[in-house]
Amino acid sequence: MANDYEKYFIKPSIRDARKRKSQETPVIDFEKHFNIKGFGTGKTYKIETYGCQANEADTEKIKGILEALNFTESETLEHSDIILLNTCAVRENAENRVFGELGRLKQYKKNNPELILGVCGCMPQEEKVVERILKSFHYVDLIFGTHNIYKLPEYIETVVLSKEKVIEVFSEEGSIVENLPRIRANTRKAWVNIMFGCDEFCTYCIVPYTRGKERSRNKDDIIKEVKELIEQGYKEVTLLGQNVDSYGRDFKNTDYKFADLLKDLNKLPIQRIRFTTSHPKDFDLETVKVLSQGGNLMPYIHLPVQSGSNEVLKRMNRKYTKESYIELVDNIYKYIPNVSLTTDIIVGFPGETDEQFEETLDLVKYCKFEGAFTFIYSKRSGTPAEHYEDIISFDAKKQRLYKLNDIVNNGYLTGSKRFKGDIVKVLVDGVSKNNKDVLAGYTENNKLVNFKGDKTLIGEIVEVKITDAKTWFLKGEQVE
Ligand code: 5AD
Ligand code: SF4
Repeated sequence: MANDYEKYFIKPSIRDARKRKSQETPVIDFEKHFNIKGFGTGKTYKIETYGCQANEADTEKIKGILEALNFTESETLEHSDIILLNTCAVRENAENRVFGELGRLKQYKKNNPELILGVCGCMPQEEKVVERILKSFHYVDLIFGTHNIYKLPEYIETVVLSKEKVIEVFSEEGSIVENLPRIRANTRKAWVNIMFGCDEFCTYCIVPYTRGKERSRNKDDIIKEVKELIEQGYKEVTLLGQNVDSYGRDFKNTDYKFADLLKDLNKLPIQRIRFTTSHPKDFDLETVKVLSQGGNLMPYIHLPVQSGSNEVLKRMNRKYTKESYIELVDNIYKYIPNVSLTTDIIVGFPGETDEQFEETLDLVKYCKFEGAFTFIYSKRSGTPAEHYEDIISFDAKKQRLYKLNDIVNNGYLTGSKRFKGDIVKVLVDGVSKNNKDVLAGYTENNKLVNFKGDKTLIGEIVEVKITDAKTWFLKGEQVE
């Protein structure tokens, strides 16, 4: 193949990524892009994944593509012919870990100049990141973003044959790619993307720029995927989207929405349906009522609140108030009394006062969250909040985080304790990470349970009596 260097030198632009032209979403069939089968015969790969479930799902697709090319997964980095870092841009910490890792990987490149080192995922969607990689990590061979995973075969072929760097990052609204091969991480639990991208533009968040506009997958493709998973013996699916509650908002010819999708999936013979993540503004009463029907719809909702202060919520552009959030939570508890609620919270958003932070603490107590991901605000280049005046010291932000975490941890423990003495259903994942003598799995409410049992139970749903409740997990005994 001739050197096609020019063709593969497309750098990102946050400015372009901001645009929403609401053109029809193109649907791409991967099969049509796949014509170099066998290229990886005798070669190996390793992927390191950072960040959220969307990235984990993307890694499964990247593995699927590589294995369709005949690459096999390597046990170690040393023996890999391709190393890819699938990266997260949501907070600076995550980015720093990737830059640190890139520094460490230099040695492998030195030992094996044929090694292909690539960076993909959300970080390459930022122009500053690509500039930094080009300047400080010149040994990186391949940079591509979230929109063009399906083009990986031709990128690899170009790097190998032309010995040139490939940089191709699209800052477009995005497409939907169907028929991607996939190597799933788990044989019983599966991620199913129902939508991609985000149109919310919360002022702190980089995601609408790194993952493009909101675009929903055709319901028939989703249902087909779930049916295939059932045939393969899967017991749990988690529906994925940045804002699953707005599923279908982009459909032109139908008013089919998230609640309808849940209703349809509720009829299928899969044991467990979960979803993540929800936006309180779009979580309607109909969805709450559908969830209250139970069956395979699990009594667990992750509902990121971010802050308990109306003033802060407004500056975050969250488009709901503390009062409307509380009304939603009240309805959820009314219709689904057994539900477990968790949330995301950011502390130290620019300008957040002590009083506003206290409002968050009050809200957390009121909502009886049984868990929360808590974060210190991280400034993201290209987002509106980047320009907000931020006078709170990092130390003060840390103190707020500790204070919040105390209350959150209390919620975890209270949420665990309420199951003591109950018989719960556990989908067994495997042996516990901390104790190889016990099995570990999750209940319908998404609580981690450890119990003694035979390894043949792995992958099965087992009834377990809860004997003890700790903050982070429950202990139990199998019901014979
Ligand atoms: N700083 C801190 N936390 C953030 N999140 C998103 N962007 C930022 C940021 N700039 C958090 C939000 C979101 C979760 C996935 O990450 O709480 O819900
Ligand atoms: Fe980011 Fe807000 Fe979209 Fe979530 S809803 S991905 S926080 S912009």
